[in-house]
Amino acid sequence: MIDESESPVGGEAEGKTITRRVFLKFLISISALLTVIPFAPMLNFFFAPKKEENLQEKKISNIKDVPVGSTMVFFYPGEESEERSFLTHLTPEQLEKAQAEGRDAFMVDGFVALNSICTHLLCPAELPVGDEIVCVCHGGLFDAVDGTVLDGPPPRPLPMVRLRVEPDTGDIYATELVGKIGYGREE
Ligand code: FES
Repeated sequence: MIDESESPVGGEAEGKTITRRVFLKFLISISALLTVIPFAPMLNFFFAPKKEENLQEKKISNIKDVPVGSTMVFFYPGEESEERSFLTHLTPEQLEKAQAEGRDAFMVDGFVALNSICTHLLCPAELPVGDEIVCVCHGGLFDAVDGTVLDGPPPRPLPMVRLRVEPDTGDIYATELVGKIGYGREE
C-alpha cells in the first residue's frame, strides 16, 4: 500500500523529493502569513513597547540666547495671551541667594521660568527687575525666582514652569506647568 500523503509532488527536483504533506504545510504557512500581514500595524499598535513622551514638552530657547541676568518672554503650554511666561537666567548672586533660602526648587542650570499673568485679576506682569516682578494694575509684587507673593492683593503665587536643558545642545525646554493660570485662589 502506498501512503498518498507521502507521495512525491512533482517528482524529484535537484536531488530532493517534496512530499504532499510538506507541500501542504508550506501552503498553510504561506496563507497564514498572508492573513496576518494586513493586521501587522494594528498588532504593532497594541503590542509594541510604548515610547515615553512628554506631550507638554516645548522647546523655548537655547542657553546662549538668554544671557546671564536677562529675561525672555515665551508662551507655554500654548500660544494664548494668558500663557505668556518669563524665562530668566539668574545672576550668580541671585543663584546663591535663592539656594541659601531654599527657593531653587524649579531652578535648572541657573534658569527659572514662570507664568506672568497676575493671579489677582489677570493683568500681565512686568518683566522682572532684580528679584521682583511687579503687576502695575494694583501693585502686586512677586518673587522673580519662585513666584511667591511679596506684596499686594494677589492671593497666590505665579504658576511655575518646569524646565529641562538638553546637555548636548543647550536647548531649553518647558516641560510642565505647575499651578493654575487664572485669578483667585486655587481650589
Ligand atoms: S491684577 Fe495684578 S495686582 Fe491686581
